Amino acid sequence: MKKTILSLIAGCIALTATAQTKITLNTDLAKTKINKHIYGHFAEHLGRCIYGGMYVGEGNTKIPNIAGVRNDVIQALKELKVPNLRWPGGCFADAYQWKDGIGPKEKRPKMVNVWWGGVTEDNSFGTHDFLDLCERIGAEPYLAGNVGSGSVKDLADWVSYVNQPTGSPMSDLRIQNGRQKPWNVKIWGVGNEAWGCGGNMTPEYYANIYRQYATFMKDITPESKLYKVASGASSDDFNWTETLMKNIPHNMMSALALHHYSVLSWRETKGPSVGFNEATYFKTMEEAWKMEDFVTKHSTIMDKYDPEKKVDLIVDEWGGWYETDAEGKGALYQQNTMRDAMIAGLTLNIFNNHADRVRGANLAQIVNVLQAVILTNEEKMLLTPTFHVMKMYNVHQDATLVPMSIESPTYEFNGKKLTAINSSASKDASGALNISLTNIDYRKSHEVTINLRGEDFSKVSGQILASANISDHNTFEQPNKVSIKDFSGAKLEKGVLKLTIPAYSVVVLNLKK
Ligand code: AHR
Repeated sequence: MKKTILSLIAGCIALTATAQTKITLNTDLAKTKINKHIYGHFAEHLGRCIYGGMYVGEGNTKIPNIAGVRNDVIQALKELKVPNLRWPGGCFADAYQWKDGIGPKEKRPKMVNVWWGGVTEDNSFGTHDFLDLCERIGAEPYLAGNVGSGSVKDLADWVSYVNQPTGSPMSDLRIQNGRQKPWNVKIWGVGNEAWGCGGNMTPEYYANIYRQYATFMKDITPESKLYKVASGASSDDFNWTETLMKNIPHNMMSALALHHYSVLSWRETKGPSVGFNEATYFKTMEEAWKMEDFVTKHSTIMDKYDPEKKVDLIVDEWGGWYETDAEGKGALYQQNTMRDAMIAGLTLNIFNNHADRVRGANLAQIVNVLQAVILTNEEKMLLTPTFHVMKMYNVHQDATLVPMSIESPTYEFNGKKLTAINSSASKDASGALNISLTNIDYRKSHEVTINLRGEDFSKVSGQILASANISDHNTFEQPNKVSIKDFSGAKLEKGVLKLTIPAYSVVVLNLKK
């Protein structure tokens, strides 16, 4: 009898203990920079991302705009501190003829968007429109070149058009089209998903094609030294990474890409974006957590060929993907709920913690497509829960990663378990410490104890994104239902920080000396 009571007490203690999250932060060991480009975005000619989304046309008198791009979108993207913006695709990139998108708009030929709904586009949003937009919002452009259906010459010409100051046929053409100064575009994708919509190539074949294209993409001035990104693997295609690392000389490749979407299934239903059940939620979280495994394994392969970590890993497509046919075939419009906030918080912590190899990423996509940060409807615009997470996490951009050890409780569903809490931390240029925490648990809040080793801090403040229901989201009628709130629940005493993080919430804490 005595033994039973004792073991019951021990069981209770164990239960309490597993519900505790223990984090140790080694602030004195911080050394790796979290590249701001991890917080990049992606705009494809797809559904209402460009046309009818960010770009409403120069002649639009109903929606205030600068050069056809909505003012409210420009304002929001500035606020978000978008470090880089990838364009024009995606799959679209390997069908795009950039020369059809320059010069007088009324003379531009039309094109059919073969990848996304077969819609006809008038090429009114082209190179100048995109690069001027990037200048306006202070983002570095990331141009994805057409390898699948283009030519080496076309891509080399695009580089010359945007980067050659004067004296080449392409720079003359740019100047004739109204832009004197080059834009000095550094980040270039050499194709996209070459294993699929980019040409259904084998990795061996693509590695050779990459070498050919990259050879003719020239560094024209010191200000425009190219950063070339090889089309990377999908999720767990480790052979793709291995073959490219083996067959492409590393001095020809600045980065290798990786794509991973949190999708329930590519073959069966992807489930609704709102009104999902816990089983669906759990599965989405399982898919999101796979990013940790994929990034670790692709990095390990890269380490084998590049132990000095000269080639970056760029996750240039990530996010949640649900059933998206509400706006017709190929539009990929979906709502964005607290579930998406969980994907964002979890994934960005993973990227931060792998900052020694992951030096860029692009959320798919920026407006009205997949896990968008902005949704628009005619004159109306709203910021999604994902926007708010990315904004809260901005404090990590170009800050120094603080190594952490973490013991987290698990979130259990139907006998399966996931780590409930993940976190990352960084020190910024002013010496402040920022800690981001995501609790994906559908049911439970968790107590968190953070031991601060190495440096003393005296003040703590915080922000939280939380909502009553996991499928809460912002609508055009209620655009601020989910929004950032101040969080004063963290207590700091003698180098130990304590807080309780609610179920499905994201918290970012700021500590000062
Ligand atoms: O982001 C939507 C699509 O997903 C992209 O066009 C493609 O690269 C990926 O398959």
